[in-house]
Amino acid sequence: MSPYTTILTETHGRTGLIRLNRPKALNALNNTLIKELMDALAAFDADPAIGAVVLTGDERAFAAGADIKEMMDETPVSILRKDHIAPFDRIMQIKKPVIAAVSGWCLGGGNELAMSCDMIVASESAKFGQPEINLGVIPGAGGTQRLTRAVGKALAMEMVLNNRTLSAQEALQFGLVNRIVPVERYLEEALAFANEIAARAPLAVQFGKEAVNHAFESFLADGLKDERRAFYYLFASEDQKEGMRAFAEKRQAEWKGE
Ligand code: CAA
Repeated sequence: MSPYTTILTETHGRTGLIRLNRPKALNALNNTLIKELMDALAAFDADPAIGAVVLTGDERAFAAGADIKEMMDETPVSILRKDHIAPFDRIMQIKKPVIAAVSGWCLGGGNELAMSCDMIVASESAKFGQPEINLGVIPGAGGTQRLTRAVGKALAMEMVLNNRTLSAQEALQFGLVNRIVPVERYLEEALAFANEIAARAPLAVQFGKEAVNHAFESFLADGLKDERRAFYYLFASEDQKEGMRAFAEKRQAEWKGE
């Protein structure tokens, strides 16, 4: 029996799939869901049979934000004590690539969750926004930071200050998402994309993910130093020897993750 009440988990080849499962509340992120999601991500991360993770909602909503009804009566002290947003940071520690497959509403904490993933596959119906201004607050789970880095200051200001939403097409144009797929196929496409990456050399995928994410968090000089160190370190792996030998011998490489 599944240990979860607000999410569903499955595996598809070497990809772990996590579905947010509060459809009546448009997958609003309550405290239980956030905890279960982080536990499921950590479990897939620890499973050697899994090489990538896809995170999705349903066709109508990826997630319509943090659960407003759960947090409406919080005070600064109670919300600080619960610090319910802090678990979001655990996504940053997941070593395997995490792809968000987004359809329908992707708002507030939902958009912040999608942006915490490494890539986003969007259905044609996806709508992205940070509507917290309508509630008299601002984004609290990285929205002002990740969104600005992704789409630039001008558009981020409009989204955060004036509830500007982005269509899937606009999100692609401004660099928020990787690709757009018809609604009937977006999850299938995200799983195929994830399995493609999961079949690659695991250590190189892990280090590549870390290095690209580092570009968001560091000054250029630090990021470059870190990237170079990871590149040199990979020469200690069997996969580097196998990958380069296979190229020279004109054959497919067989990855061991060692
Ligand atoms: N929290 C709690 N419940 C939510 C919710 C949310 N974020 N979003 C939707 N729901 C619930 C609705 O209350 C409704 O429940 P009932 O049937 O029990 O009334 C159900 O989901 C369906 O929603 P609607 O009837 O409103 O559906 P709609 O199609 O008319 O509208 C919508 C869709 C435009 C997304 C609208 O639901 C909406 O505006 N939702 C709120 C979006 C929002 O403000 N998100 C930001 C939250 S704050 C945040 O995320 C802070 C942060 O940075 C961490």
